[in-house]
Amino acid sequence: MSKPPFLPYACQSISPEDTEAVAHALTGELITRGPLVREFEQKIADYCGAKYGVAFTNGTSALDATYFAAGTNQNDRIVTTPNTFIGSLTGAIHADATPVFIDLDRTTGNLDMNLLEFNLNRPSSRGREIFMAVHYAGIPLDMRRIDALIKNPDTIVIEDAAHALGSRYPSGELVGSCAWSHMTVFSFHPNKHITTGEGGMVLTNDEELYQKLLLYRNNGIERNPEKIHCPQNPWWYEIQAVTGNFNFTEFQAALGLSQLKRLDQFIQHRADLVKHYRSQLANVAGITLSDPRWDEFSNYHLFVVQIDFSRFKITRADLMKKLLEANIGSQVLYIPVYKHPFFVKKAGDLSEYFPQTELFYSQALALPFQCRLTEEDVTRVCESLKKLLSKQ
Ligand SMILES: Cc1ncc(COP(=O)(O)O)c(C=O)c1O
Repeated sequence: MSKPPFLPYACQSISPEDTEAVAHALTGELITRGPLVREFEQKIADYCGAKYGVAFTNGTSALDATYFAAGTNQNDRIVTTPNTFIGSLTGAIHADATPVFIDLDRTTGNLDMNLLEFNLNRPSSRGREIFMAVHYAGIPLDMRRIDALIKNPDTIVIEDAAHALGSRYPSGELVGSCAWSHMTVFSFHPNKHITTGEGGMVLTNDEELYQKLLLYRNNGIERNPEKIHCPQNPWWYEIQAVTGNFNFTEFQAALGLSQLKRLDQFIQHRADLVKHYRSQLANVAGITLSDPRWDEFSNYHLFVVQIDFSRFKITRADLMKKLLEANIGSQVLYIPVYKHPFFVKKAGDLSEYFPQTELFYSQALALPFQCRLTEEDVTRVCESLKKLLSKQ
């Protein structure tokens, strides 16, 4: 008997219009750093309600740029969640800043707000606090509440919204408006809401940060006549910092612009899939779903369930293998950052300090969740899952 089609846990949705837009961009005179890049930046900024957007090669380089723009140094502490991708911290580690992880709230997979409050306002004799707010799976942190918790005016707030394009805070603003932060970062990797192949963007309302982000993107090159020594020479530019080249192409921008037209449709489709998943899994003993009170605010980037494997006497690895045999993809997001060898070498085994993160990590499984998925596919996933768990 032939197998049903493979259902990846995440993937892109490319339409004929997307393909046409990319092909058209390739016929232009400029195929990188041109008007489509600026249009894409402006459209994302307008969508979210922010002033400035700067597109980057990927979400990681966009996050690196925010640490650069914030002037991160070895005295700074980066307060963040361990339940994230390394890109949230790469730029901070390169600047020799110190990560400070906060344990999780398992109802959302985001960090625990009470612990955050305690950590953000601990007295310290040197350096700043930089809060890297990660909106896990698209479930937004309450940034207005966090803003009210911060007492030190030097604290920098950056949002890693790689998962959260189209999510809203409980106070109503869209993630990306930077209403309660200095900068917000999106990723356009193929498993995100909209894709440009690889790609990322920083939004900000601050002109000074905007200029630093532009500088970082283009090898630290300054051409502004007011800021350089020999503006009369047409060839002259100056290197203000050694950063690298993280520029965005016209054909990536064309894909992003075309995808953006379908963002609201993508969000609606995912919201429908969430309802379907919930209706099939809500009352299964041993499976915990994220708190549904966040459904009206989340763009739902991932659908992560927590499975009490001790109860079912099947390991997660075996379950994932059996799902794969049924042509169903799944993934664990994330291995807590402090568990990776790079961090263990520096700080030792920190697991005992993060009981909720450890529990979440031991139970979490992301099920297929993407725009090509149908309600029938969700039924197939849930039935396979329930069957595999009941066999034990
Ligand atoms: C939370 C988070 N931050 C940062 C990134 C980095 O984005 P990119 O893959 O575009 O570099 C990702 C990507 O998966 C992510 O999930």
